[in-house]
Amino acid sequence: MLELVEISKEFRTGFLGKNVKQAVLDATLCVDRGEIVGLIGESGCGKSTLGRIAVKLLMPSSGRIILDGVDVTDMPEKRFREFRRQVQIIFQHPETALDPQYTLLESILESFNKIGIPESEQKDMLLDISEEVNLPLDIIDRHPNQVSGGEIQRAVLTRVFAFEPKYLILDEPTSMLDVSVQAHILQLLKKKAKQDNVGMLFISHDLEVIRAMCDRVAVMKEGRILEEGDTSKMFLSPKSGYMKQLLVNSD
Ligand SMILES: Nc1ncnc2c1ncn2[C@@H]1O[C@H](COP(=O)(O)OP(=O)(O)OP(=O)(O)O)[C@@H](O)[C@H]1O
Ligand SMILES: [Mg+2]
Repeated sequence: MLELVEISKEFRTGFLGKNVKQAVLDATLCVDRGEIVGLIGESGCGKSTLGRIAVKLLMPSSGRIILDGVDVTDMPEKRFREFRRQVQIIFQHPETALDPQYTLLESILESFNKIGIPESEQKDMLLDISEEVNLPLDIIDRHPNQVSGGEIQRAVLTRVFAFEPKYLILDEPTSMLDVSVQAHILQLLKKKAKQDNVGMLFISHDLEVIRAMCDRVAVMKEGRILEEGDTSKMFLSPKSGYMKQLLVNSD
């Protein structure tokens, strides 16, 4: 289980950090292996901040991050590599995840090397994962600017799946893609969660997608988690006025 416990995050900007933005406030959320948890809420409510904290790209101002029972909030640098293998993140703009100077293949192999996959096994691994994510092999010698957004996201997934993560944070992973590509990628993420027991935190403001993908949903507003529950319950009988309003607005 990946647990975020009473997480708060304030950003300080401006002269001497005079402007304080409370991006996340006392948010508690957990994701179990094999489970997809949706995180929704209006733009700026703190979803990405919480997602980045979950993978330790950002430190919380307070609160704890617990991975499979172990508090990893302040873990030593040398254990960070192991943490990063287990908890991965995928962003909305896949092109920012790949170095434009590298071909897709070079980026993928760089990850394989980082993980320590022996060269003799890399080809089989590439064949396996590219089939799983539907990455056409005839395009992998191209650079990111020579392929489509969907193809880049598949290359990103190839890298990420090579780590065999236990948990994945998905921050609007398909919002830049067209509908049919989006559907394919969502389908393969769901399959991954269930087959390989990967816990996923799925950030999106597309309620249709959330409903189709997630086992549970949490709603955020102004940094707080207002309500959380099974997806069907949340959609059929939401408790908070805010969730009701979101549902009405999405009709
Ligand atoms: N590095 C930063 N410095 C200062 N403020 C920040 C920083 N990152 C985010 N914020 C602010 O924190 C708040 C939450 O931002 P966040 O990106 O988490 O929102 P979000 O829910 O992901 O929004 P969206 O749906 O638009 O992606 C926003 O008001 C944002 O401006
Ligand atoms: Mg965001």
